[in-house]
Amino acid sequence: VDQTYIMVKPDGVQRGVVGDIISRFEKKGFKLTGLKLYQCSKDLAEEHYKDLKLKSFFPKLIDYITSGPVVCMAWEGCFGVVASARKLIGATDPLQAGPDTIRGDLAVPTGRNIVHGSDSPENGKREIALWFKEGELCEWTPVLTPWLRE
Ligand code: GTP
Ligand code: MG
Repeated sequence: VDQTYIMVKPDGVQRGVVGDIISRFEKKGFKLTGLKLYQCSKDLAEEHYKDLKLKSFFPKLIDYITSGPVVCMAWEGCFGVVASARKLIGATDPLQAGPDTIRGDLAVPTGRNIVHGSDSPENGKREIALWFKEGELCEWTPVLTPWLRE
């Protein structure tokens, strides 16, 4: 089983595209195992993006992520969920993101690119554990599983 942490950033919430974003992952056939609206602390945002601490845009990034509520999501699939979700999201710079991707369709500047997706299965696990508490994740069996998995 493969898991990824997807997060609608504060601009996505403010712009009313949460439903559109969730819908794209649902339609792809991923299984939603965690979902919440959440105002995160500076500490949590810094821990989440700790690999970028030395970048010049880091303070701006932390201000952005903490500027309003985000939608935290855990999505699961049999394999390739992390890479597949990154494809649905599109390139970091929305101008480089292909058509029919979330960022390509809905965003313009890199600093307002409306959604986050884990960049590796290890980070998927790390980020889900960071953003969700025990008991907030839900294990369930979608009835469509035989039609979505070989
Ligand atoms: P995430 O899914 O949010 O992790 O984006 P990513 O994996 O496509 O890119 P990366 O992890 O390298 O950067 C994290 C976030 O920092 C990006 O999504 C942007 O919001 C922001 N960011 C990255 N590069 C720049 C930049 O050059 N300028 C600004 N203002 N923000 C940037
Ligand atoms: Mg990243």
